[in-house]
Amino acid sequence: MFKHHAKLETNIFFLAVGILLTIVVGGLVEVIPLFSIESTIEKVDGVRPYTPLELAGRNIYIREGCYNCHSQMIRPFKDEVERYGHYSLAAESKYDHPFQWGSKRTGPDLARVGGKYTDDWQVRHLINPRDVVPGSIMPGYKHLVRKLDYADIGSHLKVNRLVGVPYTDAQIASAKKDLEEQVFADPAAKPAVAASYPKANIGKASISLTNADPKAVTEMDALVAYLQVLGTMVDFKTVDEKAIRR
Ligand code: HEC
Repeated sequence: MFKHHAKLETNIFFLAVGILLTIVVGGLVEVIPLFSIESTIEKVDGVRPYTPLELAGRNIYIREGCYNCHSQMIRPFKDEVERYGHYSLAAESKYDHPFQWGSKRTGPDLARVGGKYTDDWQVRHLINPRDVVPGSIMPGYKHLVRKLDYADIGSHLKVNRLVGVPYTDAQIASAKKDLEEQVFADPAAKPAVAASYPKANIGKASISLTNADPKAVTEMDALVAYLQVLGTMVDFKTVDEKAIRR
């Protein structure tokens, strides 16, 4: 074989064919297993599509480039699991288009930050991180205390449905109403949005700490609703560990 190697390397035609073959075989090995992806994502109860408000918040998270400093994927190592909680499951990001796993941690992982702090803390921290974490190098985002533009939120749900998120027609039709309800409804009154999207964080985040118009939905409200749901959908007390490791 080594005898013929020189021939292969010095003949541009054979070399090109050889390279092509290598890439084709390598590519197939990587791609073919993905066709059975349905069976490689474990089934876990609790993961639901984002509420319209959370989805709007997610868009802001992406727009502001939070992923440049924050990952959303807890790896299955002891140090990570002890710091952040249960390692991330593939199913937890199945409705993320695009996923926000990230590859850089200037700040901590956010995959399970939901419920770790109060809404007030989140707002305060986003306005000026140093108010709550002295020495933080995270930039402030006080410009998010402005009106959220959500006139087209129904289309965002529709596009997500196009790529596989199971939003129902009713959820798309009531997207705007659901978004407003999540901010303004009284959580005790069992609003429809809570029935449609279990565990949604109902209530206005930015009201107490900012001079924003209390009747307007702000970008801050949306971002905080998104942060507060991260990692909270799956109840790990009821998850069958063996099923995950299958
Ligand atoms: C320049 C890097 C950088 C960017 C960009 C950044 N952060 Fe941070 N973030 C940090 C650092 C560092 C910390 C840890 C110190 C602190 O809590 O402020 C942090 C902490 C946090 C925490 C608290 C996490 C915890 O478990 O205590 C949250 C929530 C957070 N960031 C959200 C965001 C959001 C949302 C955005 C985008 C709007 C963002 N960050 C953008 C660097 C960044």
